[in-house]
Amino acid sequence: DWNSGNVIAEQVERIRAQVGDARVISAMSGGVDSAVSTALVHKAIGDQLTAVFVDHGLLRKGEREQVERDYVASTGVRLITVDAEDTFLGHLAGVTDPETKRKIIGREFIRAFEQVQRDLVEEARASGEKVKFLVQGTLYPDVVESGGGAGTANIKSHHNVGGLPDDLDFDLIEPLRTLFKDEVRAIGRELGIPDAIVGRQPFPGPGLGIRIIGEVTRERLEILREADAIAREELTLAGLDQTIWQCPVVLLADVRSVGVQGDGRTYGHPVVLRPVSSEDAMTADWTRLPYDVLAKISNRITNEVREVNRVVLDVTSKPPATIEWE
Ligand code: XMP
Repeated sequence: DWNSGNVIAEQVERIRAQVGDARVISAMSGGVDSAVSTALVHKAIGDQLTAVFVDHGLLRKGEREQVERDYVASTGVRLITVDAEDTFLGHLAGVTDPETKRKIIGREFIRAFEQVQRDLVEEARASGEKVKFLVQGTLYPDVVESGGGAGTANIKSHHNVGGLPDDLDFDLIEPLRTLFKDEVRAIGRELGIPDAIVGRQPFPGPGLGIRIIGEVTRERLEILREADAIAREELTLAGLDQTIWQCPVVLLADVRSVGVQGDGRTYGHPVVLRPVSSEDAMTADWTRLPYDVLAKISNRITNEVREVNRVVLDVTSKPPATIEWE
């Protein structure tokens, strides 16, 4: 019989035996898997672990604070945040093609992470220690899938915290390799990680960068961040977090339409709500959200986000459409 306390105790033993007195790095994305695997390793080896969080400027509202403040407070993990917003936005300037965006974001993420890796390796060397291990939040379904081959792998180039180059010669610690998502969540709760992190819905590595249709700019990110925060807040208030798989909010940044707001005519942008129900994200159906929830989200967004004067609903299943727009 499965028990999160037992799994934690077992993993702690295993990690200690594997690591010895070496130092360990973990890449934190803010997602459930990296949050739980990092906390688990921290429980085993304490400050031998350093977690690295790259802020690429494409995060949702409050996400960085959630990791830096709430996650650190609840776990005691030693965390380094890399401020990479300027770098990412610089490289994304003028880029509109979805695959190009994904490649740039993936590449810059690795660069940012490698820089910190090098610094940590230097620091450890100076004090006669070794940085030998990298934590990854690989789950059992990931293990099975990567053995699987054929699928939709080529539709979009997925970017994860994993997939890092191994030229620095790290061994991997993958404490979640035998577990399913719900088991990982149970372990996360047992470790005291806040529910806002443990219960999180999936969010793509390239972040809001692939939810702005058109060029990604600071101003557009700000608009989308506000609209997205309102949608998430209302869905949570309505108790729908567990019902829907996720609900991307997409900014059609190159589209304008006429509206009438406050004192007069506006010429603003539409945002799209993309609520989906799914078991594994391979297929999905659009979620029939209650009209009153949709109305509330639409009213709030158009009232509170000046640049948005229209809210539209995506009613397409996957296939033919993917969940994300890019
Ligand atoms: P699509 O758009 O392919 O998305 O139907 C399927 C699921 O994967 C998420 N997604 C990503 N997750 N890195 C990730 O970690 C990525 O690059 C990425 N792209 C899409 C998406 O949010 C959905 O849950």
